[in-house]
Amino acid sequence: MTSQTDPQIRPESPSEHRGVGAAEPHESAALHVTGAAQYTDDIAVRDPRTLHAWPVQAPHAHARVLALDTAGARAVDGVVEVLTAEHVPGINDAGVKGDEPLFPRVVMFHGHAVCWVLGETQEAARRGAEAVVVDYEPLDALITLDEAIAAESFQGRQPVLRRGDVGAGLAEAPHRFSGTFSFGGQEHFYLETHASLALVDEAGQVMIHSSTQHPTETQEIVAHVLGVASHEVTVQALRMGGGFGGKEMQPHGLAAVAALGAVRTGRPVRVRLTRTQDITMTGKRHPFAAQWEVGFDDAGRLRALKAVITSDGGWSLDLSEPVLSRALCHIDNAYLIPAVEVLGRIAKTHKTSQTAFRGFGGPQGMLIIEDILGRCAPLLGLAPDELRRRNLYRPGDVTPYGQPVRHAERLGDIWDQLEDRADVVARRRQVEEFNARHGHRKRGLALTPVKFGISFNFTAFNQAGALVHVYKDGSVLINHGGTEMGQGLHTKMRQVAATALGVPLEQVRLAPTRTDKVPNTSATAASSGADLNGGAVRNACEQIRQSLAEVASRRLGVHSHDVRFSDGEVRGLGTEPVSFADVVRDAYLQRVQLFAAGYHRTEGIHWDPVAMRGEPFKYFAYGAAVSEVEVDGFTGAHRLLRTDILHDVGDSLSPLIDVGQIEGGFVQGVGWLTLEDLRWDEGDSPGRGRVLSQAASTYKLPSFSEMPEDFTVHLYERATEPGVVYGSKAVGEPPLMLAFSVREALRAAVAAFGPGGSSVELPSPATPEAVFWALRRAREAAGDEAARDEAAEPVSGG
Ligand code: MTE
Ligand code: MOS
Repeated sequence: MTSQTDPQIRPESPSEHRGVGAAEPHESAALHVTGAAQYTDDIAVRDPRTLHAWPVQAPHAHARVLALDTAGARAVDGVVEVLTAEHVPGINDAGVKGDEPLFPRVVMFHGHAVCWVLGETQEAARRGAEAVVVDYEPLDALITLDEAIAAESFQGRQPVLRRGDVGAGLAEAPHRFSGTFSFGGQEHFYLETHASLALVDEAGQVMIHSSTQHPTETQEIVAHVLGVASHEVTVQALRMGGGFGGKEMQPHGLAAVAALGAVRTGRPVRVRLTRTQDITMTGKRHPFAAQWEVGFDDAGRLRALKAVITSDGGWSLDLSEPVLSRALCHIDNAYLIPAVEVLGRIAKTHKTSQTAFRGFGGPQGMLIIEDILGRCAPLLGLAPDELRRRNLYRPGDVTPYGQPVRHAERLGDIWDQLEDRADVVARRRQVEEFNARHGHRKRGLALTPVKFGISFNFTAFNQAGALVHVYKDGSVLINHGGTEMGQGLHTKMRQVAATALGVPLEQVRLAPTRTDKVPNTSATAASSGADLNGGAVRNACEQIRQSLAEVASRRLGVHSHDVRFSDGEVRGLGTEPVSFADVVRDAYLQRVQLFAAGYHRTEGIHWDPVAMRGEPFKYFAYGAAVSEVEVDGFTGAHRLLRTDILHDVGDSLSPLIDVGQIEGGFVQGVGWLTLEDLRWDEGDSPGRGRVLSQAASTYKLPSFSEMPEDFTVHLYERATEPGVVYGSKAVGEPPLMLAFSVREALRAAVAAFGPGGSSVELPSPATPEAVFWALRRAREAAGDEAARDEAAEPVSGG
């Protein structure tokens, strides 16, 4: 039977009271689609006294600021103030590493803001910014990763992931291959650009509204820029229109500019980047370059991997070190590699400071091994799917950093179930038949797995707090440290509270995330938002429920252990129910506390970042996808015909939300791998270092038309995860990597243009243009064969 006192056991019929496990829409879905949802900038423009900030962006990738003359700006009608370094009362730095001057003396990337103008209107501020005269001394700039590597321009630690004797492993492997692979980054392109609003009250208390995934860190940076203590600054994150990691560290400096402006003028100050400012000023997913050497045995099993991987960190460290750690910890993806030696480096270039992006380096590490397998399979004479299947982790295996792969059997199980569900064997035959009949169109089908570690590598971040209030009428208000960016965290937290207190969902409201409610929070990141904050919300609710059980036991005449809470009612074994609200009223009259602070820390994890060893992850999330594509031989254009996904979310807290996360993550991954092409001016013109793809007109994002035409997502069943809130698993990031199936399907389709069995090198992103050149190479390799095929093509085909 259902027991509310056992936290692992769920209610029997979640759909009735809409608690955990119920398919609930996003709590703000109706507000999102009607435009009624308020975002940070909606709050900012309500007050007519609000001043607007505009940056003066440098037109050089690297330059010394010799002189800054703001007199012209001050003369512009409507300009109120020009903020420069001399106005900073505290520390002139916007980062946590001390390497990000807020008002720089040396410009480090094209578009770097050297000062900010405040105006009565945004237009006045913009005209003011144009009137600021800056004298620059241009310096040499490193723009490409290759240039930085050649110049040995690196920053941060250079960790090595090591297991076994890689030299011996390679020497003994009967099949050895080596190669290089460089691939692109990704612009977050959240719908809401960065925004903050700062207000100062009569006592000097600073209130910041910010589109931040990490309110506590925004608070800390604002405090140190202002030279005040943390308790003088409050940060609220109402909701974000997407964060995707781009608002984990990048909001701090912008919030500090608003705060500085508010303190100096006494008026509210708003910073909201335009799309082009956002793209040219804020960090993106790290591009990487890899050099590798790999050895296989005769059965196609990986024996050894030796690699050097270098990320492009941009001008400052930001989150580049943890992103690199996660790349190293995911270079195995779902495969056992007995001997490993991978050196990681972060290049320092004169570009935006690259940062977290969904998967946090994991996707980059995994892309490297998937590319290696995709390229080596034909050279080993194996089908790529078969090569992948043979190398999957099995029970008892351990990752290169020393963590046992718990539930490794799920990888093979998910793979086989998916093959069944998606009818892969029959469809592979159909693809072959199609390809035999068509010379100018080819199809490809590929399966790829995902294994993704959940928890912050930095152990201290794996804690969270919550504050739960029960009012006298039995209504519940919850507050937790996580931020809502569209991922459905607040929806899940309401469901957790509803289940933990045994009340209907309507009885639980959620208040915006604020640092004065829950302090010292971690970023809502690493997909751990629901795990950590859910643990804290449940803990707070359980404290309250225990107090209420005592109160109810006296009223019902039963032992408190036998009191049950469900559907807004409280009952003893065999007693008539009383309402939750009645018990709450009794509790108030008996002076029993009706609110609680909850706390959660993830147990059993540890990590040594220098040795790159430990058990940094609470568990792994697993999944697999199979995708089928069709490529046009004349243009390289491709269509995603069908994708089937089977993904492990444990016992889902909220299945509709989870399926949405899987679909959205997958499509965002498809964007990164096949469409989104960030271009920088790498030439010698004065525009060197400029981001060329500054808008949606030049930066192609996935939309409905890039969704698979036939798209099925299933949640892996009987997947209870012990020790995590109600047996669930994190879902935010892992599904992005399911998009590898599309890239590998493209590789298969390209291969079909060439002679059988040759290795295809596919750039990333595999844009139509890149696919076109790849299939041209394949066709050239095919030589006469292609000409013969073309002649044989039926008139109606192709
Ligand atoms: N989903 C939406 N709709 N919007 C987002 O910004 N961010 C992703 C993912 N899903 C994001 C999203 C990223 S990068 C992370 S780390 C997780 O959500 C964070 O949320 P969670 O930890 O609460 O799952
Ligand atoms: Mo997500 S990249 O960890 O914010």
